[in-house]
Amino acid sequence: MALLQGKKGIITGALDESSIAWQVALRAHEEGAEILLTNAPVALRMGKIKTLAEQINAPVVAADATKLEDLQNLFETAKKHFGKIDFVLHSIGMSNNVRKKRPYTDLNYDWYMKTLDVSAISFHKMMHVAWKMDIMNEWGSWVALTYIAAQRAFPKYNDMSDAKALLESITRTFGYFWAKHKKVRVNTVSQSPTPTTAGTGIEGFKKMLKYAELLSPLGNATALDCANFVIFLFSDLSRKVTMQNFYHDGGFAFTGISEEILELLPDE
Ligand SMILES: NC(=O)c1ccc[n+]([C@@H]2O[C@H](COP(=O)([O-])OP(=O)(O)OC[C@H]3O[C@@H](n4cnc5c(N)ncnc54)[C@H](O)[C@@H]3O)[C@@H](O)[C@H]2O)c1
Repeated sequence: MALLQGKKGIITGALDESSIAWQVALRAHEEGAEILLTNAPVALRMGKIKTLAEQINAPVVAADATKLEDLQNLFETAKKHFGKIDFVLHSIGMSNNVRKKRPYTDLNYDWYMKTLDVSAISFHKMMHVAWKMDIMNEWGSWVALTYIAAQRAFPKYNDMSDAKALLESITRTFGYFWAKHKKVRVNTVSQSPTPTTAGTGIEGFKKMLKYAELLSPLGNATALDCANFVIFLFSDLSRKVTMQNFYHDGGFAFTGISEEILELLPDE
């Protein structure tokens, strides 16, 4: 039987084919799920989400994930369309400090607040609106995408590191309440560097991608690999797993040095 047969959910953040969310939407559809797609209004205008929507027969709702009224409308639309839902993917990240190359030691604080709001607090806002609406079925599953810079220093990841640390903390703390009161799971997936619009915006991204490939014993995880893991977390196979961060990175997080990197370094 398909892993998500009969399940319904919301997928944020599919901008174009390179987006991790795009691959999750395709895989969820293949596994029998019904999906509602959402992205920021500007992304609906500039991106290719309509192509994906046609492919998987999904309605599309515009929502800026920092705006409570937009999120209210998003979840109300989902409720009208589906009744209760089973899964939500948070696949949203943006930093103007990264975009405009402000170094971490000289941040623009308005942009910093925006980074935290868009990339982390939006997850709290989504769960807050969904909680009040009581829209999640029991054993439902929330997944947000994160990066190892939440836990280790990656200087060029800039203020997104702090956003991801907050995102992982929101996952644990809200995750407790979802589990206790609604039997719903909340987890994050810490993905390898992946060539997407957001990913390639990080200064030195190509080198980070190469470094991760050389360090990870299994090599980098692709967007499709990530989608497969997210499907497992949406499915009933992971019913008792919650409040966790999963390194989905080919072993990067637990490798000190690889033979490939040793070979690159001079002996003296
Ligand atoms: N690409 C990587 O290397 C990598 C690695 C680990 C984690 N991630 C995370 O994966 C997630 C998805 O990113 P991606 O790499 O697929 O890139 P992407 O650029 O395809 O997706 C980012 C999405 O965020 C959306 N977004 C930005 N501001 C928004 C707002 N205010 N409201 C609603 N949506 C908004 C964009 O429209 C876009 O669709 C992000 O959380 C990112 O940090 C990416």
